[in-house]
Amino acid sequence: LFARDITFMRGAVDLETLPPFGLPELAFAGRSNVGKSSLINALCGRSTVARTSNTPGRTQELNFFDVNSRLILVDMPGYGFASAPKDKVDAWTRLIKGFLRGRPTLRRCILLVDSRHGIKDNDREMMDMLDKAAVVYQVVLTKIDKLNLAEIEAVRERTLAEISKRVAAYPHLILTSSEKGVGIPELRAEILQLANP
Ligand code: GTP
Ligand code: MG
Repeated sequence: LFARDITFMRGAVDLETLPPFGLPELAFAGRSNVGKSSLINALCGRSTVARTSNTPGRTQELNFFDVNSRLILVDMPGYGFASAPKDKVDAWTRLIKGFLRGRPTLRRCILLVDSRHGIKDNDREMMDMLDKAAVVYQVVLTKIDKLNLAEIEAVRERTLAEISKRVAAYPHLILTSSEKGVGIPELRAEILQLANP
């Protein structure tokens, strides 16, 4: 599936410009700079699908990618960077809440958490939004190439303990490094099940 055609469909800056419902959708959410766009590129096996950057806040709209006319990946704008002005944060919240509540084709949200930091308060707020919207979410730890084995084990335990208490969290935690390709086949296999229900 991922080896074939991946095309950028559109970027939506507000609820009026969302694409019409169609194929099953999988959205990627997480703090700014956590590695959402990089993970989408790693899954697709190309570095040029989604734009990545060192500057937090690179992705400002909901970007929709068609994967072989079977599945749609949604790269979401990140949250939680300190310099964001309040009106921008409010616009983000409106867009994300509206999207999550009004999207029957949204099958799952992949919630990325930086393995160096673990789950933070703004991730918990995101989880609250997903629990309320009844969107199933799966936590994926990113950038594990930055940790040693003991650190990986510690963050894995902490994260599992926290998601086990959540209503809509999918219990299978995946540890990834987009840079080193770790966990990518595992996540692809998981996603394929959503494209072939
Ligand atoms: P926003 O669009 O701002 O929300 O960010 P994002 O979540 O899309 O992050 P992006 O993919 O742009 O990556 C942010 C930075 O993290 C870039 O400098 C990436 O090179 C780096 N990065 C992403 N994934 C990894 C990884 O697995 N390992 C390491 N070491 N760095 C990574
Ligand atoms: Mg991005």
